[in-house]
Amino acid sequence: MVHTLTGVVGTDRGPMSRGRPSADVASVRVTAKRLVAEDVLTLELASPSGLRLRDWAPGAHVDLVLPNGMTRQYSLCGDRWDPFTYRVGVLREANGRGGSAFVHDELRVGDMVGVGGPRNNFALVPSEQYLFVAGGIGITPLLPMVRQADVLGADWRLLYGGRRRASMAFLDELAADGDRVQVVPQDECGLLDLRRFLGAPRPGVKIYSCGPAPLLAAMEAACAGWPAHALRTERFVSEETAAPVRRAPFGVELATTGATVTVPPEKTVLEAVGEVGVEVLSSCRQGICGTCETGVLSGEPDHRDSLLDDHERQAGDCMFICVSRARSDRLVLDL
Ligand code: FES
Repeated sequence: MVHTLTGVVGTDRGPMSRGRPSADVASVRVTAKRLVAEDVLTLELASPSGLRLRDWAPGAHVDLVLPNGMTRQYSLCGDRWDPFTYRVGVLREANGRGGSAFVHDELRVGDMVGVGGPRNNFALVPSEQYLFVAGGIGITPLLPMVRQADVLGADWRLLYGGRRRASMAFLDELAADGDRVQVVPQDECGLLDLRRFLGAPRPGVKIYSCGPAPLLAAMEAACAGWPAHALRTERFVSEETAAPVRRAPFGVELATTGATVTVPPEKTVLEAVGEVGVEVLSSCRQGICGTCETGVLSGEPDHRDSLLDDHERQAGDCMFICVSRARSDRLVLDL
């Protein structure tokens, strides 16, 4: 469904919700907590009764429901073939809103946390050649991808930038990959040379990138001449969006009952339908995690998420109701 993708990968600048987590939350125990780079730690999570965890694929993320009530999203960065352990990487954010500080300073081995998902907005699609570009903690979703590319026998290379070598996680795990991996600490080597790494635009190559917004903007510019959908990105935070198209209220018809809910300018569709008892799973509430995806049966959405590409927006058959609104007077939603 999604071609230009987004999510949150272990940084505290992303969305954080409090209170009611997703209904599919499972309880898991923190079984290991390790500092793997400057300000980056990993958590390992397992079922307290030794059961298998839900399956996942590279690019997936989970909602972590912390003991203090905060819910955050983190990419899974462990062994995709280990059914008993999830691993996530968490960057301590100096200007975060407390989620990463709690994980770094207060969460202990043995504590129970909730896990929602996994969900995947950044799936690895089949290709014979992959180019991966990571910035900082953006390495987390890409790490399982390079392992999957190995399993598939695909040709791949990774360009991995960071502020300095000590701040770059998983260098030890990538060391065995030899010259497939280019490590570029900014204080030693300067900025990433994206065009040199990517080479000339050509078909048959999938490019995956995750990192801070300036890196992703540079990637989009560097990939402008590449075939459509060659580049897939995952974001830390939602993209800037313009003001809503409509300032007036609009109606949302619920297809299952025929009831109509009025959505005023100060409320989201998610909030408005929730007030009449229609519970839709949500997590980030910023249009980046994909949890609240809802089918559109008629009407024209005003897409305000960071997930859909232009083609998908034009199709108009789904929307993320935590942020997206209506261009038309009325929407009929598959609710
Ligand atoms: S709740 Fe995350 S996209 Fe809507």
